[in-house]
Amino acid sequence: MVVVLKDVRKTYSMGKVRFDALKGVDLQIKRGDFAAVAGPSGSGKTTMMNIIGLVDTPSQGTVLVDGKETAGLSRDELTRMRQEVIGFIFQSFNLLPVLSVFENIELPLLLGKKGSRSAALSRAGRKERVERLLEAVGLADKRFNRPAELSGGQQQRVAIARALVNEPAIVIADEPTANLDSENGTRILDLMKRANAEYGATFIFSTHDKTIWEMATRVIFLHDGKIDHEAARA
Ligand SMILES: Nc1ncnc2c1ncn2[C@@H]1O[C@H](COP(=O)(O)OP(=O)(O)OP(=O)(O)O)[C@@H](O)[C@H]1O
Ligand SMILES: [Mg+2]
Repeated sequence: MVVVLKDVRKTYSMGKVRFDALKGVDLQIKRGDFAAVAGPSGSGKTTMMNIIGLVDTPSQGTVLVDGKETAGLSRDELTRMRQEVIGFIFQSFNLLPVLSVFENIELPLLLGKKGSRSAALSRAGRKERVERLLEAVGLADKRFNRPAELSGGQQQRVAIARALVNEPAIVIADEPTANLDSENGTRILDLMKRANAEYGATFIFSTHDKTIWEMATRVIFLHDGKIDHEAARA
């Protein structure tokens, strides 16, 4: 299993007010899964993705990522996992405004520690990798632009290219196609499917789009902070 959640709970506290966003989630994701997470707005999708992506911690319960119990990891180990094992596509892109499109995509390759796969790439190797992704997301002509000069859908495509550039074992994508038209949505799904088939990347992505559910190997339905049911697919 690449991801295991055991009775994961998350309570947000806002002053004296508490809100239970996850109320005991049990989930096992195996290598190569192409898993969709569905559910109404506020059901806890983003909260769950943030916990799996190691950008947030649960209030209770156990989270294993890549076979490691995350509560036991040091800050350095967590950083290494976020840089080298996980690709994260946020609902709110999180691109760096001062960097160009090309630089935003290249960034994860520059963050790899000595000895990591990305640190082994030459400058030319990095350029080739970034250019291949720029082509794949249809943004070769925007490579020198800054994120603020792009449309929402274009920024989203940059975020997707950035998440895939390291060829991470696990890709977590929070509504990766929410702001895209059907042509670009299909393009992104194809790119994700290709990474899934070519190097066995595991995908966990939230989506409201029923046509994308058809492409998933599993669809996990969240409701009110719990897994309501799951549909297995072809
Ligand atoms: N930082 C926070 N502080 C307090 N409450 C929060 C916080 N983040 C999320 N929540 C609450 O937790 C619940 C789950 O939010 P979450 O963002 O996980 O939902 P979601 O399923 O991703 O919704 P959407 O489809 O709208 O993106 C919501 O009721 C939300 O208001
Ligand atoms: Mg959300």
